Amino acid sequence: TRLTPLEIMQDAPVIPVIVLQDRTQAVAMARALVAGGIRMLEVTLRTPVALACIEAIAKEVPEAVVGAGTVRSAADAQAAALAGARFAVSPGYTQEVGKACHDLGLPLLPGVATGSEIMQAQEGGYTALKFFPALPAGGTAMLKAWHGPFNDVRFCPTGGITAGNAREFLALPNVACVGGSWLVPTDALASQDWARITRLASEAAGLPRG
Ligand code: 3PG
Repeated sequence: TRLTPLEIMQDAPVIPVIVLQDRTQAVAMARALVAGGIRMLEVTLRTPVALACIEAIAKEVPEAVVGAGTVRSAADAQAAALAGARFAVSPGYTQEVGKACHDLGLPLLPGVATGSEIMQAQEGGYTALKFFPALPAGGTAMLKAWHGPFNDVRFCPTGGITAGNAREFLALPNVACVGGSWLVPTDALASQDWARITRLASEAAGLPRG
C-alpha cells in the first residue's frame, strides 16, 4: 500500500539519512534501526551501492519502509522505484522530479529553503516538505516565520539536526518530524556496531513531538 508523504513524516520523530558504502551492511543496519523503533529509512543515492542497498532492504526487511534520498532527477526517481524504494526525498524541488514521482506513484518529500520554493512545491501538489538545509537556511526561526503564510504546510527539517537540537524543532506546530544522519554514524557502520545504531534509533523514537 502507498503511504502519503505526511504519513511517512508522522511515523516516527526522526527519518534517518543513511549513507552506505557497503551493500553487505544494508540489511543488518536496517534491522538495527527497526529494532530501535525507526522504520522509515532514507538511503541516499550518493554511493555506487545505494540502489543495491535499497533493493536488499526492500526484499529482506519487510518491517522497514525504505526510501531513496538525494533524488535529483526523474531518472533517479525511476531507478529508486525500480529498486523497491517506497518513497523519495530530494534536496530541492523541480517540476520534473515532482511529476516523475507523481507518475511513478512514489511519495515525494521535496526539499525547500525559500517561500518561492514552497509555493512551487504546493503548485505541484506537495504540502509535506523537507526543509533543507535546515540549520544554515534559518533553523527554528525560519519555521516560525513560515507558519504564518504557509500554515497548511508540514516540514521535515534536515541538515544540521542532532540529538541535541531535535527537540526544539519537534516542538514546533509545523514540524512533523526531523531528518538526520546521526542515527547511523560512519564509525558505527565501520565497526558494525549494530547495538549502537539500535540505541540511537531508540532514543530518537522516544523524542517528544509538539
Ligand atoms: C544530508 O544532506 O546528508 C542530510 O541533510 C543530513 O544532514 P546531517 O548530516 O546534518 O544530518
